[in-house]
Amino acid sequence: MKPTPTQLNLPFCTEPPPGRPLRAKGGAENRLSPEDRAFHDWYRFVLSYPPHLVGCYMQEFGLDEHGTVLDPFCGTGTTLIEAKLRGVSSVGLEANPFAQFASSIKTDWSIDPDALLSLARRISESAIELLRRQGLDDALECDGKLDEPMLRKLPPQAAKLLITDSISPLPLHKALVLLDCINDHQGESCYQHCLLALANALVFSISNLHFGPEVGVGKIKRDAPVVQPWLNAMQMMANDLRKVCGKIFPESRAYLADARHAGKVLQPRSIDAVITSPPYPNEKDYTRTTRLESVVLGFVKDRSDLRANKQKLIRSNTRGVYSGDDDDKWIPDQAEIDRIANAIEERRKELGKTSGFERLYGRVTKLYFGGMARHLAELRTVLRPGAHLAYVVGDQASYLRVMIRTGQLFAEIGQSLGYDLVRIDLFRTRFATATRQQLREEVVILRWPGKDSRRSRPIASRLSLDRPTIRPGDPDEQQRTLPCRN
Ligand SMILES: C[S@@+](CC[C@H](N)C(=O)[O-])C[C@H]1O[C@@H](n2cnc3c(N)ncnc32)[C@H](O)[C@@H]1O
Repeated sequence: MKPTPTQLNLPFCTEPPPGRPLRAKGGAENRLSPEDRAFHDWYRFVLSYPPHLVGCYMQEFGLDEHGTVLDPFCGTGTTLIEAKLRGVSSVGLEANPFAQFASSIKTDWSIDPDALLSLARRISESAIELLRRQGLDDALECDGKLDEPMLRKLPPQAAKLLITDSISPLPLHKALVLLDCINDHQGESCYQHCLLALANALVFSISNLHFGPEVGVGKIKRDAPVVQPWLNAMQMMANDLRKVCGKIFPESRAYLADARHAGKVLQPRSIDAVITSPPYPNEKDYTRTTRLESVVLGFVKDRSDLRANKQKLIRSNTRGVYSGDDDDKWIPDQAEIDRIANAIEERRKELGKTSGFERLYGRVTKLYFGGMARHLAELRTVLRPGAHLAYVVGDQASYLRVMIRTGQLFAEIGQSLGYDLVRIDLFRTRFATATRQQLREEVVILRWPGKDSRRSRPIASRLSLDRPTIRPGDPDEQQRTLPCRN
């Protein structure tokens, strides 16, 4: 008898009580509960969406063990992990090689936790011994003079890619020694988990990195323990793996692929639902967020690697715009997007801003929405008729304070490509001090009817950004607040 996949007993969300405020006190809509941490904490993007949000939509879309959910911008795998925990098959696409690696490893639960810990012990002993022979005690902060030439360094082309001061020379040396010891075990079943644990320790403990909404450099640490934080990350993995030992889970797979070419890796009509959080037009550079671990672990070796990676991403920031870019041709009739791009350019001239990046603000806005249109167009072939899609997107005013109502525009693009707009949920709001306006983070719910049923109307004729979204069949309730678990 074929065993049925395990569905762990996870709390599902409930509808909010009527009249519930948009923003729960203390930001409960974004808070992580303990059951939101297992597997997710192996490595996570700061500001990735909360796992329980995925659960809400999986439940609403009626996904069960017969369905497959896609996250075409899977980042570090929140959707994939939640699907797996809930007994639903999942597939992810991610164009940033390190993020795709993280997603793949975070959903690989085939590892024996005891074998993982035994390998961790052996590797840590070798690293501590090697460091000791160099006169370094990893547990004690080194306050003596450093023998700089003796310290291990990255190859010059790779070192140039690092954010300045993101890691100090001595912690980098110790991390490279540990990496060598891990690399002695290439080919062993737990090897890649060891690498991910090192990435986690690098970013959140060994480096000088600091995360606000953006990645930056915080307090510079001359020295930092390396082996112990790595062991802690390995221990966390082993603890989580123990929880699922002996249970059977459905398949989950993360592809290194561009969501604008989903049909290259996914079978036609193979996807029952999409739950995702794509980039927003907000100047966030995802290759910068993962730069340190990508470089130290060898995912990006030089500028040409970095450029090739950036070219596979949706253009959501001016540092990723290239001369041949033409995704804007996917939105030829979008008068509102043209209007926004022109308003940004006018504001730039008014303010006398002349840097190369500022000159690209208008252009990147068009390229962003064009890329998203191209992605939605491509997706149509891989969706099963009736498939539901949930896209978490946020309003932005990053470009000289010109408001971009991302959710509204994205919904209009979807409709122009033949998708039905089911509704737009409000997930949370953020007050933008610069514009003194509320920026909405919304979940746009679309449905693929099975064939392109659009009437050929230019998008602009249906678009009025200040108009609330109509929820079909429910004229009184124009917009609903996302049901979040408290
Ligand atoms: C908001 S993040 C997703 C975060 C994700 N929900 C998580 O749990 O980590 C958006 C992701 O889209 C990826 N991305 C951008 N353009 C892409 C493209 N064309 N194809 C696939 N992934 C892309 C970025 O590298 C980034 O990891």
